[in-house]
Amino acid sequence: MARKKIALIGAGNIGGELAAQIARRELGNSVLFDIPEKEGMAKGKALDIMQEGGVTGFDCSVIGTSKWEDCKGANVLVITAGVPRKPGQSRDDLIGINLPIIRNVAKMAKEYCPEAGAVIISNPLDVMVYEFKKTTGWTRDRVLGMAGILDTARFSYFVADAAGVSTKDVRTMVLGGHGDQMVPLISCTTVNGIGVDQFLSKEQLDAIVKRTSGGGGEIVKLMGTSAWFAPAAAAIQMLEAIFHDSRRVLPCSVELDKEYGGAYKGLFLGVPCVLGKNGLEKILELPLAPAEKELLDKSAKAVKEVVDVANKM
Ligand code: APR
Repeated sequence: MARKKIALIGAGNIGGELAAQIARRELGNSVLFDIPEKEGMAKGKALDIMQEGGVTGFDCSVIGTSKWEDCKGANVLVITAGVPRKPGQSRDDLIGINLPIIRNVAKMAKEYCPEAGAVIISNPLDVMVYEFKKTTGWTRDRVLGMAGILDTARFSYFVADAAGVSTKDVRTMVLGGHGDQMVPLISCTTVNGIGVDQFLSKEQLDAIVKRTSGGGGEIVKLMGTSAWFAPAAAAIQMLEAIFHDSRRVLPCSVELDKEYGGAYKGLFLGVPCVLGKNGLEKILELPLAPAEKELLDKSAKAVKEVVDVANKM
């Protein structure tokens, strides 16, 4: 069987980390693609990763390019093309620059990789995925946004840290848009099945919810640019679920239709999904408590506002 081919559109911080992780896990051969001005960087990172194989012993290939022809035959595109945030910026502030970029990438993806699926990471996430699907016209099972796994990982880490337990044992779920209005579900949060309220007070949990919502911004403030290790790891988890057809239950930004009573029809929003060989296999509908539903509504409204802005651009 041929190895999977992954086209990484954007060879910046997340793209480079993705290429290295994919090679180390021997998930497939990757193409690290960037604009012509950054072709040297894409080629250089690819070469550096291939040389790492001489130490760690993997034999998947990584090539750097600025030619879409090299992406032909990709099974999956992982898209990080665009600019990251600078301190003080919200994800929505990126729309002016990243919207034309995602439209161009979607047009080229449709032409050169008509059979591929896509995992989108560029921000503002839920709007970028919406635009990518709109431009390509691909079915919703093939177009997924990576955000919920990252937000959930941030939440898990903060819970584990405050409770003094291993992150491995924290189970939780963060829904909604990838913005300040994201919805961490306390009702779904356990430490290996034990309710989180056995470990942390309401005040502690409220503070963790707040820190999670601003989790990306906290890193941007520290580094002057956005995070890449955890975002890349989150996308890798999605690729593994798809390539191994493992039907993992992961929060992803997907296009909603009749789910959740049709309240979010046409919007991309983070909800629990079953991922398998076809990409999105199923959307899970959680029975939300009224307060959680209210928060999800608010989050959806915030996403819709940016979608409306994008639709006018
Ligand atoms: N096609 C391909 N690559 C592009 C294009 C394009 N049309 N336009 C820009 N790029 C490239 C840039 O040249 C850059 O190398 O996308 C890359 C982005 O890399 P970084 O600036 O390092 O940003 P990164 O940290 O990887 O984040 C990428 O993901 O999490 C989001 O908010 C983040 O939107 C940002 C994206």
